[in-house]
Amino acid sequence: MDKTMELLLNRKSVRVYEGKELSKEVKKRIIAATLRAPTAGNMMLYSIIEVNEQRTKDTLVRTCDNQPFIAKAPFVLLFLADYQRWYDYFQVSGVEHLCEHKGIVMRKPKEGDLFLACCDALIAAQTAVIAAESIGIGSCYIGDIMENYEEHKELFGLPKYVFPISLVCFGYPTRQQRGRELTPRFDKKYIVFEDRYSHFGREEFEEMYRERQEQVFGGRTEIKGARNIGQMMYTKKFDSDFAHEMTRSVRAMVQAWVED
Ligand SMILES: Cc1cc2nc3c(=O)[nH]c(=O)nc-3n(C[C@H](O)[C@H](O)[C@H](O)COP(=O)(O)O)c2cc1C
Repeated sequence: MDKTMELLLNRKSVRVYEGKELSKEVKKRIIAATLRAPTAGNMMLYSIIEVNEQRTKDTLVRTCDNQPFIAKAPFVLLFLADYQRWYDYFQVSGVEHLCEHKGIVMRKPKEGDLFLACCDALIAAQTAVIAAESIGIGSCYIGDIMENYEEHKELFGLPKYVFPISLVCFGYPTRQQRGRELTPRFDKKYIVFEDRYSHFGREEFEEMYRERQEQVFGGRTEIKGARNIGQMMYTKKFDSDFAHEMTRSVRAMVQAWVED
């Protein structure tokens, strides 16, 4: 099989790393590939912060829903949706003057710009993940970086039009991690549609989740009050404290971004 295909079909998240540091050269190669990621309008609406200070990593353990492996990752990249750089550049480029001359009001970054910048930042992040993977370095996303917006803003000195959309931990996988099985995925018929969206009913859901239900429940009728995967995931993820904090934090950030 083609090497890239093989790599994509075998990628898995890695949360336990060997003590070995990534060399400067290796980091440089990952970053070089990352910066070649597709980007809307070739604007590079993102920034990346390499988190090196151990104190900062330790803080992230706490602010990202208590995930201790962040502190042990030898290479940590913070991906930021960034319209600040362009907005500042518009200002130093005399765009305000141009608008005045045209009799129009200079617009500020709004929701659409935020989403586009998030797309850019995430595509860059995934490019880094694959670049790292291709040289034997494992990685894991930390979505919880979207929590505690105010604290992260302070910690990294983020201005108004910069939002931390993803943190990615990198490191050489331990032998145990290399040997670990891939996590299952839903069959493609539930995910990939032709021409129109497919809305599922009870029967399709039962079929879709049958295997996962068996794997997780293994014959038991109930786990911690949940009788199926839907009830379990609702409690564990969707209605969890971290989901509520993420909603609060993202709302605060969006409000800060869109207010004039
Ligand atoms: C947006 C996003 C956020 C994630 N956040 C976390 C996280 O905070 N902590 C973690 O351990 N894994 C996180 N992951 C990794 C997922 O748990 C993982 O991709 C999923 O369980 C499938 O496993 P696999 O990547 O090994 O196939 C995240 C993945 C994505 C794409």
